[in-house]
Amino acid sequence: APERPVIFVLHGARGDLAKRMVIPGLAELSARGLLPERWALLGTGRAAIDSADFAQIVRSSLETFGPADKAAATQAADALTARASYAQEVVEGEPDGALTGAVAALRHTLATGDNTPDDVLVIHYLAVPPTTFVSITRALGEHGLTKGSRVVYEKPYGTSPDSFRELDDVVHGVLKEEQVFRIDHFLGKEATQNLHVLRFANELFGGVWNREHVEQVQIDVPETLDITDRAEFYDATGAALDMLVTHLFQVAAEVAMEPPHGLDADHVSPAREAAISCFRPLDLAHDVVLGQFDGYQAVAGIADGSTTDTFVAARLWIDNDRWRGVPFLLRTGKRMAVSAQRVTLVLRTPKELFGEEVGPDRISLSLSGDGAIEITTTVKRPGPDLTLGTGTARLALDDVAPGEPLSPYASLVHDVIIGDRSLFTTPAGLRDAWRAFAPLLGPDRPQPLPYRPGSWGPAEARALAAPGGWVLGD
Ligand code: BG6
Repeated sequence: APERPVIFVLHGARGDLAKRMVIPGLAELSARGLLPERWALLGTGRAAIDSADFAQIVRSSLETFGPADKAAATQAADALTARASYAQEVVEGEPDGALTGAVAALRHTLATGDNTPDDVLVIHYLAVPPTTFVSITRALGEHGLTKGSRVVYEKPYGTSPDSFRELDDVVHGVLKEEQVFRIDHFLGKEATQNLHVLRFANELFGGVWNREHVEQVQIDVPETLDITDRAEFYDATGAALDMLVTHLFQVAAEVAMEPPHGLDADHVSPAREAAISCFRPLDLAHDVVLGQFDGYQAVAGIADGSTTDTFVAARLWIDNDRWRGVPFLLRTGKRMAVSAQRVTLVLRTPKELFGEEVGPDRISLSLSGDGAIEITTTVKRPGPDLTLGTGTARLALDDVAPGEPLSPYASLVHDVIIGDRSLFTTPAGLRDAWRAFAPLLGPDRPQPLPYRPGSWGPAEARALAAPGGWVLGD
């Protein structure tokens, strides 16, 4: 466990993200002994609630989203609530408020033994809507709360190239880059982290990771999930902003990057950024389909006549030597037929000897849960004749002993505590992501096409994956 005492300030303490992801992530770290001995959880937000109310939020979060085992969930809640308190959010232009006092007091409480209050690491985790990042950052600066702190920003970091730039200027006005952690939790998934290892530690895979051997790449994240419990955020955001420019672009960059010279942040992040700098701006006329599920506009909190996309499929082109001509097919949506998170490299297959019977051969990673790697290859069908079929070998990553997977939020929060920045996004990479995404924010953005809940999205999206089609789906 890290030694430096930590105050974890959870902004947006009552919000969906805090309850669903951040609090359970902290509970996981606590249960695994990955938090320092002296740490405190300080909830904050606009609401004038008290510490007992916040403790109740922590408890109910862990009942619903914590360990499946009831006794373990209660134990986790006891462990966290014992260290939890609440203070109201600092606000720009107002005198020092409750949060400033609470942080100062906790610094003193936690600084025992060899530590001084200044040694205590304060982590501000902004689990708040992206529209409030600027004002909260300014307020943190104004109230002296950035000193000796790390600040974690949820995605999306900005909502357009301009707002990204404005946010980044404000952030760099009060924070040094090494204090800033921009989270994209898809980078923290065990299977995503395995992309590096699979490829750079195994000649078998590293050797085929290019346009000569790969026909197309699919990064497919259909979700059965609804948006009812966060309608307001969702209606202002939509699938493309929520998932495409963020998670799917970052995973595409992880697949596409050149081998870095080392596996630390100073090498991995530039390699990922270099890949993003080769993303061609989306061609709306040929490469993008937006969708909206039937009934979306009837959901409480959704504006009548809303044109928000709940589905996006895009064909992304990466203009460099390794990937020129290989489509990266990205797809995600709400209320789709199944929930899955799959990265697939569809391999080219030689047809000379066996004809069309060969393939499809694939290397595939499931990013959900603890992660899995699947290899689909052409083999001889058992029996007297020489006929071909395909077979799939599956390796569940949690079968790799000894080891116990960490959930992405736990893994990334741990990285923030120990100061490992390799799985966080950087301004240069995000600038290029926004550049490639920008056409979708302009006047030519296509109208979302309707699709039936429980389906694979609008039929028009099928053509993007031609000729083989989407690996998942009907
Ligand atoms: C979040 C998005 O970042 O990721 C959600 O805002 C999406 O819309 C979620 O459902 C998917 O995360 P997970 O944990 O299922 O991989």
